[in-house]
Amino acid sequence: MKNLTFGNINVLPILDIEKNVDPEKLINALIDGKINTVEITLRNDEAFNNINLIRKKFPDLILGVGTIVNVDQLKRTIDLGADFGISPGVETEIIKYAKENNFSYIPGVSTASEIISCLKFDCKFLKLFPAEPLGGISYLNSLSGPFPNVSFCPTGGINSGNYLSWLAQKNVLCVGGSWIAPKNDNNYDEIKKRALEVLKN
Ligand code: 3PG
Repeated sequence: MKNLTFGNINVLPILDIEKNVDPEKLINALIDGKINTVEITLRNDEAFNNINLIRKKFPDLILGVGTIVNVDQLKRTIDLGADFGISPGVETEIIKYAKENNFSYIPGVSTASEIISCLKFDCKFLKLFPAEPLGGISYLNSLSGPFPNVSFCPTGGINSGNYLSWLAQKNVLCVGGSWIAPKNDNNYDEIKKRALEVLKN
């Protein structure tokens, strides 16, 4: 199991790889843009095939699988050699399976009650979703009072205009977002440019 690190970038590109996007070219564009950690979402029929291909071609990439909504998807994720899993919500069976298999897994929360459910399993690094529609940074700050030991990866509505403000919060370890490589975007040069832009900041 690789350590879950985001290097000095702390931005997790969320990839929904549709048919018009070449998975290999997409990952190469991100790597050329100095990004070494990605989340590939399970949002289309090709997702597991793409994950399999990307895992084999890019052994050093820190490969996360997202939108995991059941244990079966987590099992397949582990079998394919992904480095971590991530979900938009909390399902305790998924958390338990990940723990039993010593697999890095990040549940998603949007309420204090969901955070409490995760703490029961000692999960202290959580996806906050959907971060902007929930109330943005002021909502995050309201949660940090009762949960000072919890860190977040806010996702949902984060983009080039607001990600730095999120990253400046003390309980934010990284932010996730689709803005670097949006769905259906196959302009690989632009993707690389947006990735480099993040590095520059
Ligand atoms: C996710 O999977 O977390 C979201 O779809 C990403 O949200 P965004 O498209 O607003 O970045």
